[in-house]
Amino acid sequence: LRKIATILGMVVVIYACQKDRSTFVDHEFKKQFQTPEMLYPFDNPQNNTSIKLGKYLFFNPAMSLDSSVSCASCHNPSLAFSDHIALSIGSKKQEGTSNAPTLGNIGFHPYFTRAGGVPSLEIQTLVPIQEENEFNHNLIDLEQRLKSDSFFVQAAREAYPNRPHYFAITASIAAFERTLISNQSKFDGFISGRNALSPSEVSGMRLFFSNKAKCASCHSGFNFTNYAFEANGATILRKDSGRYRLTKKTSDIGLFKVPTLRNIAVTGPFMHDGSYLSLYDVLRSYNQGGKHKSYQNSKSIQPLNLSNTELSNLEAFLNTLTDFNFLKNPNLKKP
Ligand code: HEC
Ligand code: HEC
Repeated sequence: LRKIATILGMVVVIYACQKDRSTFVDHEFKKQFQTPEMLYPFDNPQNNTSIKLGKYLFFNPAMSLDSSVSCASCHNPSLAFSDHIALSIGSKKQEGTSNAPTLGNIGFHPYFTRAGGVPSLEIQTLVPIQEENEFNHNLIDLEQRLKSDSFFVQAAREAYPNRPHYFAITASIAAFERTLISNQSKFDGFISGRNALSPSEVSGMRLFFSNKAKCASCHSGFNFTNYAFEANGATILRKDSGRYRLTKKTSDIGLFKVPTLRNIAVTGPFMHDGSYLSLYDVLRSYNQGGKHKSYQNSKSIQPLNLSNTELSNLEAFLNTLTDFNFLKNPNLKKP
């Protein structure tokens, strides 16, 4: 009888494990993390020359009026194309108004900047070129300057024949940005069955996608964002009023595009103003239902009553989203 009980027990355990597994790594769950298809604009061919030219410009301080900063000064490849300070420093050592976001998987975003007012990557490049506290430059003078750079002139002719040089500047940078794909984290390895996660990471993953923590009601899908505009109550507004800046609707005060959580371990400090130094502090804010109640708008932001162990598990899960191949990829480093 004892033998039968043991066998029965084992069957129950195996069944439970399988059932458990199916909650997470069944086909439906996996499907949402498939890398989406990259859409290329018809007038911006993605080829070796356009990418090489874009990369050359991305790392080139000549882009800024005083030649002091490049795109990479604020979007550093080793930090998943973000930087490590709260507010980035631009031309003439001027401090910006918000924290530099990661550009990992930026080609998949439906609109750009944290307030979401820019429709394409090509057009987005104009923002840093013109911002006073970024390049403090303009496309006409920049084109003039780059006309004396023989590498630029030759590559621009080759990649964009019959197009003006200013077109080559914005188009090639966008082409390079579309190569910034991060999909090889430990989590991706788990999804495709290449590697396991530790028990603490698995518990954190469960919690993340559960109704208890509700993280995936905003940070969902391949890039861990639904690209919606939300206020998570983590910060008070100082220099940036979020989507309100564009719409002037009071209901948009403090709403920001839900950020990706891929490579989150290296993209701090966190939030639009870089006001959180550690991930654990971010998690504690969510656990309280937001630190600043008047700056949150969603039913998903509520006190979560998670224990310290649960918070550590969530943090362990978030750390599995780091893609070391992406951070170290020599093709994405300074040419
Ligand atoms: C001085 C620092 C700085 C420089 C230089 C800079 N950026 Fe940024 N970048 C930022 C900040 C800060 C933001 C967030 C602005 C916002 O959302 O309001 C940003 C946002 C972006 C975004 C939108 C990200 C998103 O999630 O929507 C893209 C794309 C981008 N930058 C690309 C570039 C490119 C390309 C260059 C060079 C041509 C560049 N940046 C130069 C600081 C910088
Ligand atoms: C209602 C939507 C929503 C929910 C639910 C939500 N978040 Fe967020 N999250 C956001 C928004 C919006 C931001 C950016 C806020 C800002 O920039 O000020 C953010 C920022 C973050 C950041 C910092 C990202 C960065 O690059 O600075 C982390 C980490 C994070 N969330 C993790 C979580 C976790 C873990 C949960 C679940 C406990 C969660 N979020 C639940 C909307 C949400």
